[in-house]
Amino acid sequence: MPNKEIFMQKAISIAKKGAYTCSPNPMVGCVIVNNNKIISEGYHEFTGKNHAEINAIENIKGRLPNNSEMFVTLEPCSHVGKTGACTDMITKSGIKKVYIGMLDPNPLVNGKGVKLLNQFGIKTEIGLCLEDVKKINLGYTKRVTKKLPYIILKHAISADNKIAYSDYKSKWISNNKSRDDVQYIRASSCGILTTARTVKYDNPRLNVRKTKKELGIKTNFKQPVQIILDSSLSLNIKKYKIFMSRNKKIIFNSKISKYNSQYSIDYIKVPLEDNRLKLKKIMEILAKDYEMNVLLIEAGGILFSNLLKHQLFDEIIYYKSNNNIGDDGIDSISNNFFENKYNPHIKLDNVKFFDDNIKLNYMKSE
Ligand SMILES: NC(=O)c1ccc[n+]([C@@H]2O[C@H](COP(=O)([O-])OP(=O)(O)OC[C@H]3O[C@@H](n4cnc5c(N)ncnc54)[C@H](OP(=O)(O)O)[C@@H]3O)[C@@H](O)[C@H]2O)c1
Repeated sequence: MPNKEIFMQKAISIAKKGAYTCSPNPMVGCVIVNNNKIISEGYHEFTGKNHAEINAIENIKGRLPNNSEMFVTLEPCSHVGKTGACTDMITKSGIKKVYIGMLDPNPLVNGKGVKLLNQFGIKTEIGLCLEDVKKINLGYTKRVTKKLPYIILKHAISADNKIAYSDYKSKWISNNKSRDDVQYIRASSCGILTTARTVKYDNPRLNVRKTKKELGIKTNFKQPVQIILDSSLSLNIKKYKIFMSRNKKIIFNSKISKYNSQYSIDYIKVPLEDNRLKLKKIMEILAKDYEMNVLLIEAGGILFSNLLKHQLFDEIIYYKSNNNIGDDGIDSISNNFFENKYNPHIKLDNVKFFDDNIKLNYMKSE
């Protein structure tokens, strides 16, 4: 691998340190190189706090050596927001060239940072390790370009593709290692969405139970917002575990919009479509009003099938066990899902083993 790609890969790995803290901002990593050696690095940790480039520049004590180059995963910003413009700091620092993984996908700022750097005589090269850089900000990119969150559907399924027993009795399908893996996905999601039906059957907590140390971070992280679809407001909020936490919650329904401060619940009324809550509208609200980049969905097959029908998904994750539940079990999604008309562009992207469980990652391709 040529050196410049090694440096960008390093910037990508540093960017990932922000995975549990930086949303709704994108993950960004940056290294400064002089004489073929990394002399400083930085990443973006929190919205409102320094951007990666500024951290990397400030980490250097004194003046930057001549002919230093910067490798940054995302185009530096040129606007003054909660922090100063990165382009300002870069032009003042004396850096000669900036390698940029990808342009900022936000149409409001896309290309402006590069233009400004070039106006100050700083050379730029765009698209280094582009495919890898794109992967770290799928959620941010989806939200700013499509005004929808990046939607992950997750199911634990039996060997015969069932998600529950015929009596809906809740028993673990996946093993400890698979469930542990889900904790990391939850931690990197802005929200976790389920249905009142699944709350009644499973009584899940739907939170992150990992410590900062286990997540490999030093600072506190935000618990994902807990979101429930409950058309007729059928849930008794005093009864279920999900309401015991102080986490922010949203209940989408067809009746009222109001705020319950005691339980930290936003009730949001949405229109119906085919007698069900309109899913596209819900996703738009989560992207626009709650700035959600990544939304994890942990619900049953009725909702999953409807999301698939409306093409409201980007990724499907299955944790598949090696036990059968039997024909009368509850289906994940229709049996012929991978051949049916809703999924012309879906491909198996990754497979991982957790002892006797297999994690299957399917991605929707455009
Ligand atoms: N293995 C797993 O990974 C896993 C994960 C979660 C759940 N489960 C299991 O799944 C079972 C429940 O699954 P399920 O398929 O019966 O129910 P579900 O998909 O969890 O919930 C369906 C309900 O959601 C509500 N809903 C509101 N808007 C909707 C929309 N636009 N589209 C679809 N549904 C909408 C409807 O009820 P209202 O109209 O009354 O609101 C609908 O009946 C439970 O046994 C649970 O244990 C398994």
